[in-house]
Parts: sequence; structure tokens; C-alpha cells
Amino acid sequence: MPLIIDCDPGIDDAVALLLAMASPQLDLLGITTVAGNVSIETTSTNARSICELGQRTALKIFPGCPRPMVREPIIAAHVHGENGLGGVRFPPAQMPLQQKHGVDFLRDSLRSPSAPITLATLGPLTNVAMALIQAPEIAQHLERIVMMGGAVGAGNVTGAAEFNFYADPHAAQVVLHSAAEYDVPVVVIPLDVTHRAIATPARRQALRNLSSGSLSNPVAKTVATMLDNYGLREQRDMGFAGPPLHDPCVIAYLLQPALFETETVSATVEIASPWTQGRLVVDRNGELDLPGRIELATGIDADGFYKLLTEALGCFG
Ligand code: RIB
Ligand code: CA
Repeated sequence: MPLIIDCDPGIDDAVALLLAMASPQLDLLGITTVAGNVSIETTSTNARSICELGQRTALKIFPGCPRPMVREPIIAAHVHGENGLGGVRFPPAQMPLQQKHGVDFLRDSLRSPSAPITLATLGPLTNVAMALIQAPEIAQHLERIVMMGGAVGAGNVTGAAEFNFYADPHAAQVVLHSAAEYDVPVVVIPLDVTHRAIATPARRQALRNLSSGSLSNPVAKTVATMLDNYGLREQRDMGFAGPPLHDPCVIAYLLQPALFETETVSATVEIASPWTQGRLVVDRNGELDLPGRIELATGIDADGFYKLLTEALGCFG
């Protein structure tokens, strides 16, 4: 499966990237980074560090947009730590960043690929929206877009909005509407599902066990350490037994879609209201004549998800 991952590492983005690197059925054509959890400089550095941790230094990383399309930038350093990776220290990144801008890479890769490309988005959709605005016709070469974003219930930035859609609501709307215009299948995995993918102490211990005793697995050890410092406020506020692993759900969907339940709905993203900007608006009955049409994830086999993740990360041992 030809794949491009657009991300804002971020701890959960990092785990998603490592899951993808551990999955030979995913042909990772490139990684584009975007400002989101932390600055574009830091998300790009973090992507390099994670590729080096996963010993995939041949992967190409293309830095993208440093700010959202319209609204003022926001970050989530309070969730991911100032360095975006839970304060875990990595050796200075050695692998180069590509000179080509992330938007240009997306646009050029999708102009005439040898096979349709799957796009996994793990952060604000600024890069993807800008590429689709520059060259709308590239949408026809998208196999599908699988994104983490939105919330049908409560958001995690405001009561209405989830971070990826709140950080760049205009981009999120552009992507959903452009995809619908070109009949590109879109799968949206919202907070309502990712909040059920909790890295409980037992699940984190299973990751630590991959690198204990005679076993050495620096990837699993680093992931467990990052998770110890991830989303502590969200855990407290939500009463979770650990951090929710939002972005790895996207990669898990690509690998084992049967782990998820979905429903087809019409959708858009609110951009005008000062109160609900970034809200994923879904319509199950076609009453609102919304331009977007998505497969909305509604359920997850969380044990199956962690079995997949733990087995995959075990390959780094
Ligand atoms: O709301 C969760 C999403 O926002 C995740 O992608 C996390 O990494 C942040 O980008
Ligand atoms: Ca992310």
C-alpha cells in the first residue's frame, strides 16, 4: 500500500510512525510534517529522531506549513511536553530534512503516481488543504484519506472541537469538501473512538516487557517512557487509566480495519462560529445537505489494537 503520512509529532504521532515503520505492507513514500502539537521546526526534528529510533533513516521527511491557513496558531506543548516527545531526550538528529516543502511533495507525488496513494493524516490538515487548493485535480489519485480528527461528543480543546480540527478548521473543511468533490473515500477516526484506546498501565507494561531481562528493544522502551509523560491532564480530567493513543489508530485502521466499526455519514467542519469553530458536524439522515461524505469510526476493539501495536513494536527487538 503506497502511503504518505502527514503528522505533527507529538507523542502519539511518534508511536503511529513507528507502527507504520514496523509494517512491511505499508510502502511509506514520505512523511510530511506540519505545525500542530509543537512548532514546525520541532515536529520536523521529532520526525527525524523517530525515524532514527526506528532505524529507517532512508525515509524522506518534508517539512510543511508553519501555521494554519487562517486562524492564529495554537500548540499542545502542555500535552506533549515542550520538546513534543514527553521530555524524552534523543541524540541530535542526523538524517537530513528534504529541501522540498511538504505541500510541494504532496502535490507532486499525487500529480501522476504509478498507483493511487493512501494518505494518513495525524495532525492539522494545513499541508493537505494547501496541496488540494494548489492542484485540486490531484485528489483523483488519492486511494483514500484516513485521518485522526474531530469529535462527535465533547472535544479536547473546546467542548465542541478536537485539536487537529480546531488548530486549522478551514483546512479540515477544505479537505473534507475536496475529497467529496472527487469521490475520495475518507475515514475519520474521532476522539469518541480514540478515547477508548487507552494505554493502561498493563498495556504500557506489556511494551516495557519487550525490553526487559535479556530482551533489548529501544523502540518499545522509548515508547513506554514517552507514554508515561503523555496527556497527564487529559487522563486526570477524563478519569482515564492512561493516555489515549489517538494517531496510532489511523495506522491500525490501515493494517486491520476490522478492529474498527464505522458508519457512513455526511459531514463538514464548522469554520464560522466563534463558539464551535473546528466542530466536526455530522448528519446521519441527509437533512443538512452537507458536502462532505465520510466513513466515521464509531467503535474499536481496544485489546485487538494493543495486541497489534505490541506485536508490531516487538519487531524492533
Ligand atoms: O486531538 C488529538 C490529536 O491532536 C492527535 O493527533 C494529537 O497528536 C494532536 O495532534
Ligand atoms: Ca497528531
